Amino acid sequence: MDFILSNARLVSMRPGDAGYQVTEPQNITIQHGKITAIEATKPVAKACASFDCTGKLVTPGLIDCHTHLVFAGSRANEFEMRLKGVPYQEIAKQGGGILSTVKATRDASLQQLIDMALPRLDGLIRSGVTSVEIKSGYGLTLDDELKMLRAAKALESHRAVRVTTTLLAAHALPPEYSQRSDDYIEHVCQTIIPAVAEEQLASAVDVFCESIGFSLAQTEKVFQAAKQYGLKIKGHTEQLSNLGGSALTASYDGLSVDHIEYLDTQGVQALAKSNTVATLLPGAFYFLRETQLPPIEELRAHNVPMALATDLNPGTSPFADLTMMMNMACTLFRLTPEEALRGVTCHGAKALGHGDSRGQIAPGFDADLAIWNVAHPAELSYQQGFPQLHARVVEGAFYPV
Ligand code: NIG
Ligand code: FE
Repeated sequence: MDFILSNARLVSMRPGDAGYQVTEPQNITIQHGKITAIEATKPVAKACASFDCTGKLVTPGLIDCHTHLVFAGSRANEFEMRLKGVPYQEIAKQGGGILSTVKATRDASLQQLIDMALPRLDGLIRSGVTSVEIKSGYGLTLDDELKMLRAAKALESHRAVRVTTTLLAAHALPPEYSQRSDDYIEHVCQTIIPAVAEEQLASAVDVFCESIGFSLAQTEKVFQAAKQYGLKIKGHTEQLSNLGGSALTASYDGLSVDHIEYLDTQGVQALAKSNTVATLLPGAFYFLRETQLPPIEELRAHNVPMALATDLNPGTSPFADLTMMMNMACTLFRLTPEEALRGVTCHGAKALGHGDSRGQIAPGFDADLAIWNVAHPAELSYQQGFPQLHARVVEGAFYPV
């Protein structure tokens, strides 16, 4: 049966300038979870299920293409340490940081991980999110990585949201592999990736390519294994230093390179020649009080699509609010509100490998929408902490706030 959203003022986020223009009121027809028609508003036949948007603004449902929202424990103590001057890398080297979350996550049951993740997911949903990517990476054993991915997938049966999962077993070196990082990478490639592929628990593989993570050569090994098992590739690259992980990810036809504060001109050029999206994570930039800005101007000049995400995690970005990231991207990185909205719609979709079906309002695209109590799309980046969201549509079904 058709579902019709009538009187919707659309911001379609289609390519080109018109994609950011607010249209006159339109009717959107939805069938089997897909948008089938968009036409000038006319009276809706009585037999149809419908919702009258009364001229409210409708955008694609927001896409958070990079989160670590399944985890246990808190790192508030490390926040206090960092404020006293201990650097993030130093805390990591002392066995804190990612590894303190690993300990808490290993100790938690599947059900506890789900229960702890739901309020974080609710925060994202309140900011208009209809699709979210969730990474593993706080388990670092086969069983604990599988547990995290199962918890992430289970969230879909608790909330109206689409979840995409990514295996990030190469996030940090687990203590039991101390001084044996090549052995751990071998374990990731020979055991964890095949098991995850077999159970179809993730669609992509990510690596933290960094001095406190894994080297370029180790990253490449993981990418090769991912490719062998038909999984897509993503990278945490150039966050704290420049190891060349972004160019490597692009050379493996990766979906996205994420963070990229230390990306250099060569890296930007590699992205420009590829299909890889540059994902900006202003929450982590802000929370780590980073001063090195990602090369926004160069990315723009080379037409590299820029996605934008929360990076929601306990260590570097404890923020469950995607519109707040739009605000931060504008204030900290000088993105325009249009670029910020593209970052969480069409470009976020591309960073998940769903660029042809999500993140735009057009016939044939998924009926995932956000209905807002605002007059102009720039307001989504502008004011924060107000109840701006009116309702969401996910797979064609209507969810009031
Ligand atoms: O995206 N950079 C590596 N991973 C996360 C941080 C994880 C943590 O500190 O717990 C990030 O910033
Ligand atoms: Fe991250």
